Amino acid sequence: MGFKEPSKPADKPAEPTVEDHIEEELSPEDIEALMEAAILYGLKHNEGQNAVIFQVEVGKLPEEALHKIFTAKGREIPTGRLASKVIKVYASLAAAREAENHQKVFDLVEANYEEGMARIPEPHVHAELDIKTDELKEKLETAGIQSHSGKVGMMMMDYIKGIDLMTHVYREVIKNLPEDEFILNLPDARMIKEELMNNPDAVDFARLEEAIVFALNIKGPKAGEDFEARIRRDLGNRKLVFDAFQDLGLTINPEILDRIRKTVKVMNDNDVYHNDLHERNVMFETDEDGELVDVYLIDFDKVSSSQDESWGGDRGITTEYRKLTKTRKEQKQAATNKEIKDSVDFVEKIKKHRKDEWDEFEAQIEEMIGKKFPKLMKYLDTDISHFALRHGNIAPEQLSLGIVLEIAKKHPEVALEFVEYKRGAAGSGDRPLINLLIKHLPQIKAQIEVKD
Ligand SMILES: Nc1ncnc2c1ncn2[C@@H]1O[C@H](COP(=O)(O)OP(=O)(O)O)[C@@H](O)[C@H]1O
Ligand SMILES: [Mg+2]
Repeated sequence: MGFKEPSKPADKPAEPTVEDHIEEELSPEDIEALMEAAILYGLKHNEGQNAVIFQVEVGKLPEEALHKIFTAKGREIPTGRLASKVIKVYASLAAAREAENHQKVFDLVEANYEEGMARIPEPHVHAELDIKTDELKEKLETAGIQSHSGKVGMMMMDYIKGIDLMTHVYREVIKNLPEDEFILNLPDARMIKEELMNNPDAVDFARLEEAIVFALNIKGPKAGEDFEARIRRDLGNRKLVFDAFQDLGLTINPEILDRIRKTVKVMNDNDVYHNDLHERNVMFETDEDGELVDVYLIDFDKVSSSQDESWGGDRGITTEYRKLTKTRKEQKQAATNKEIKDSVDFVEKIKKHRKDEWDEFEAQIEEMIGKKFPKLMKYLDTDISHFALRHGNIAPEQLSLGIVLEIAKKHPEVALEFVEYKRGAAGSGDRPLINLLIKHLPQIKAQIEVKD
């Protein structure tokens, strides 16, 4: 605990108070007692690739050690629980390095914290613990931690009363998937659904993942699979999960992503890169009404001052998950609206920047419509497509759509007739425009209704 006492005037040495004394003296024995208790009285809470997370009631931990840690920070001993992260395969100094990174990110985010940012759980103490008793050894092994080195690397931090993003997505998919859709693949589908409804924390990540794998027919690894093949499979699997999530009409609260983005910005602006920011290293907490309380970034063993871009960098996760903030229906609507907006905007640009050409074109069309040409539709078709082809920068069919919408403003019946005409000439090879017109027919009609 690198706690420094403030320097005091030399002529008036202050009597050390009890508190000062305590601050100095978090001994290796204190740490050992604390960490041992954290495991022995702890419960396995979760696990990732590298580590197991235990949770423990603060009341079960040696008070003296706690007191020393928290008074040194000027904090009260917390109530409730603390979390310990125990690394599965011991490597010398790994826990110390991770704890150092964790502390660095915590300090940076605290110093720059504003409302609307993701937080970092506060780290408290770390250690390399000798496995001295059989009881400890057994508890560790049962939890999936190797003990043959005789040591474990671990750290203690604030406990987060929430779940990671992937757990959330998995839970929601399983809860909402109609049973008969996956009961054939997953015999205890009904049971796991019920558990997720009533006591979700009782379903650990491994079981949840197993349920998802069966329910969505997700591909497992093949023998001898190389790295690239694995990445391809992972991405394919992620798409299956995302598709299922969206097909069920589920969404992610975009506020979660906004908060992540803000904290990542503070980190990256200060040349601190998380470099492992995937969906299991983001957690969030909601209240009983499902309202978002806090978002957290966790797991700092890959933190570095240089950026690993391979998964889209620290911003990759927010880009990926942005897709899940809208239902498939909303997304389609947004894409449709954008297509229309682009078309209309482009016509507006032409009207402004190539006014003469546009005016001439418009006059020509007005004249044709005015004279009720017998082959009006045929001429319109030719004129519109020629005009669109001459004014690149946007797909010609999109500009054509913009022009039809423009015509609809003054001559709704002509625009509608034109759509029908194009539809009737479906064999003519002008597929892109026909598709676009049919797709946007409701908008074209809506435009007409507004004008009436
Ligand atoms: N402080 C914490 N409080 C509660 N749960 C946590 C905490 N830290 C991690 N977790 C949970 O445990 C999982 C594994 O922790 P993590 O630090 O990511 O380990 P790993 O290095 O193995 O990926 C996380 O995905 C998260 O769900
Ligand atoms: Mg992790």
